[in-house]
Amino acid sequence: MSPVVRPATRADVPATLEIYNHAVLHTTASYDLEPVSLDTRLAWFDHKRAAGWPILVLEEADKVIGWATYGPFREKPGYAGTVEHSVYIRDGLRGAGLGTLLMTSLIEDASARGFHVMVGGVAADNAGGLAFHARLGFVQVAHFRQVGYKFGRWLDLAFMELLLNGETDQISG
Ligand SMILES: CC(C)(COP(=O)(O)OP(=O)(O)OC[C@H]1O[C@@H](n2cnc3c(N)ncnc32)[C@H](O)[C@@H]1OP(=O)(O)O)[C@@H](O)C(=O)NCCC(=O)NCCS
Repeated sequence: MSPVVRPATRADVPATLEIYNHAVLHTTASYDLEPVSLDTRLAWFDHKRAAGWPILVLEEADKVIGWATYGPFREKPGYAGTVEHSVYIRDGLRGAGLGTLLMTSLIEDASARGFHVMVGGVAADNAGGLAFHARLGFVQVAHFRQVGYKFGRWLDLAFMELLLNGETDQISG
């Protein structure tokens, strides 16, 4: 059965949390240091849904195998055209095109809603995450040195940016 992308429901939260917490424990993809509890994640889901932000899941054979979301980049109103996303594929299923499938839907969603820019924060040591975003057309626009600390070391963070709806850089002046 081919994988399908659909909006997440509350019933998907435990499966998406399992995928996320595995990454929290074993990778620098998230700068969370401890696994997130189900109650905390359910509150996060309710808050995002009430605010109208999308959470998409990738499902195959009745199993959730990935999820992606976006939300505000920064709170001040002038940033309203920009969103920041997250994307996670279940460990063991990576490198098979599933992340691309999910992100393509997420980018379509943001474009259809008229957002202008999508930004992803990717740990600078996450070579796969950087290559993945570059392949989708994201451009690395920032490299923050030592802004995170995990696994006993300082972590650099890259910001990767995608201009949506075929936008290109504005020539000013
Ligand atoms: C990053 C992630 C979402 C990518 O999803 P995926 O299903 O593994 O990626 P895809 O198979 O769709 O890869 C598409 C392209 O990205 C690049 N890529 C993906 N993973 C890569 C890796 N580990 N190393 C190098 N390039 C990689 C490749 O160019 C690949 O295309 P190719 O296979 O034709 O060469 C997934 O690996 C993941 O969940 N990682 C842990 C969480 C994370 O890092 N999230 C991103 C930060 S929020």
